[in-house]
Amino acid sequence: MSNKILVALFAAALAVLTLSTNAFASDENLADFHAEMGGCESCHADGEPSADGEYEFEQCQSCHGTLAEMDDNHAPHDGMLMCADCHAPHDMNVGDVPTCDSCHDDGRSAQ
Ligand code: HEC
Ligand code: HEC
Ligand code: HEC
Ligand code: HEC
Repeated sequence: MSNKILVALFAAALAVLTLSTNAFASDENLADFHAEMGGCESCHADGEPSADGEYEFEQCQSCHGTLAEMDDNHAPHDGMLMCADCHAPHDMNVGDVPTCDSCHDDGRSAQ
C-alpha cells in the first residue's frame, strides 16, 4: 500500500473519531468525503479541475491502484474508462454503487 493512501486512511480514521459520526455516511458526496481528508488538491492540480479529467484519473490511481489491478467490475475497463465515468465524484454519494446499464444494454450488473 502506498504511503499516500496510508496518510489518507489515517486522516479518514481521525475524521471518524473527531466527528464521532460515520465518515461513510451516504449523505456525503465522494468529492467532499475525499476533500475532508486532503482538500480539493487531493484530486485537482491547484484545486482547479482539468479540462480532460486525466490529472484527476492519475490521482485516483495513485491511491487506489489501476483499473487493471482491480476486481472484475473494474479490470475489463482498463484503457477504456476513467474512474469518474462510473464514480462521478460530485454527483454520487459515498456508498453508491455504479450501475452497468448506462453503457451496457444486456442486463448485466455489478459482480
Ligand atoms: C475525489 C476526487 C475529487 C475531489 C476531492 C474533488 N473533485 Fe472536483 N472533480 C473531480 C472530477 C473527477 C471531476 C470531473 C473531471 C474534470 O472535469 O476535471 C471534477 C470536477 C470538478 C469541477 C467541474 C464542474 C463539475 O462539477 O463537473 C469543479 C468546479 C470542481 N470539481 C471543484 C472541486 C472543488 C472546489 C473541490 C474541493 C471542495 C473538489 N472539486 C474536490 C474530482 C474531485
Ligand atoms: C465500469 C464502472 C466503474 C469504473 C470505471 C470504476 N469503478 Fe469503482 N466500482 C464500480 C462498482 C460497480 C463498484 C461496486 C462493486 C465492486 O466493489 O466492484 C465499485 C467499487 C469501488 C470501490 C469501493 C469498493 C472497494 O473495492 O473498496 C472503490 C474504492 C472504487 N470502486 C474505486 C475506483 C477507482 C479508483 C476507479 C478508477 C481507477 C474505479 N473505481 C473505476 C464501478 C466502477
Ligand atoms: C489521496 C488518496 C486518494 C485519492 C487521490 C482518491 N481516493 Fe478514493 N479513497 C481514499 C481513501 C483513503 C478512501 C477510504 C477508504 C477506502 O474506501 O478505500 C477512499 C474511498 C473511495 C471510495 C469508496 C467510498 C465508499 O463508497 O465506500 C471510492 C468509490 C473512491 N474512493 C473513489 C475515488 C475516485 C473515483 C478518485 C479519483 C476521482 C479517488 N477515489 C481519489 C483515498 C483516495
Ligand atoms: C461508462 C460506461 C460503462 C459502464 C458504466 C460500464 N461499462 Fe463495461 N465497458 C464499457 C466499455 C466502453 C467497454 C469496452 C467496449 C466493449 O467491449 O463493449 C466495456 C467492456 C466491458 C467488459 C468486457 C467486454 C464485454 O462486454 O464483456 C465487461 C466484462 C464489462 N464491461 C463489464 C461491466 C460491468 C459489470 C459494469 C457495471 C459494474 C460495466 N461494465 C459498466 C463501458 C462501460
